[in-house]
Amino acid sequence: MNKLISPSLLSADFGNLERDIEQLNQSDADWFHIDVMDGVFVPNISFGFPVMKYINKLSHKPLDVHLMIVDPDKFVSQVKENGGEIMNVHYEACTHLHRTIQNIHNAGMKAGVTLNPHTPVEVLTDIICDVDLVLLMSVNPGFGGQKFIEHTYDKLRRLKELVVNSGSKALIQIDGGVNAENAPKLYELGADCLVAGNAVFKGGDIQGNIKAIKYH
Ligand code: DX5
Ligand code: ZN
Repeated sequence: MNKLISPSLLSADFGNLERDIEQLNQSDADWFHIDVMDGVFVPNISFGFPVMKYINKLSHKPLDVHLMIVDPDKFVSQVKENGGEIMNVHYEACTHLHRTIQNIHNAGMKAGVTLNPHTPVEVLTDIICDVDLVLLMSVNPGFGGQKFIEHTYDKLRRLKELVVNSGSKALIQIDGGVNAENAPKLYELGADCLVAGNAVFKGGDIQGNIKAIKYH
């Protein structure tokens, strides 16, 4: 059983980004979660490739890139060039998901697919063996600091079944409203990696907060 954590840089202090990244480098964080928003797929805009490039330069850990954008296919090579190791696209944003997954693999990255809260896990039945990671959104994407949607537990159980029964090697990731209270149950139900923004950066004790989520 994996118990990975991928802190979301969206909640970092951008005025002190280098300091926060150094804290993450010294912490038990496994990946860096990079939330890219375009103001079209989600009602918010975050940051783009220049910031990602800078994060990659300072980070000692793999970048897990969550693209909340339309037409992610257009940006496969830029994600790779700017340090992406896992490129994660939304199911709802890809008309030809199989092709997108192939393009990501051909660029030398791991491919992830993300589901919004309303999208059933069963839509992945015919693609589950082609992806390296499935991300279940446990809030509606676009903002940090939202409340965890409880129905995610049920989706997680069904996704775990789908992964096990299909023989897929896909890791399961959960993103949104994750904290030290719900983390143990999520890991227990089969989540391999938890994304956390607010719960990691709140109060400034980044390393302690990560331990509390990971080892609670
Ligand atoms: C939301 C993003 C998340 C977000 C998580 O659209 O995908 O990664 O930063 O933040 P918290 O953990 O604060 O809900
Ligand atoms: Zn995210």
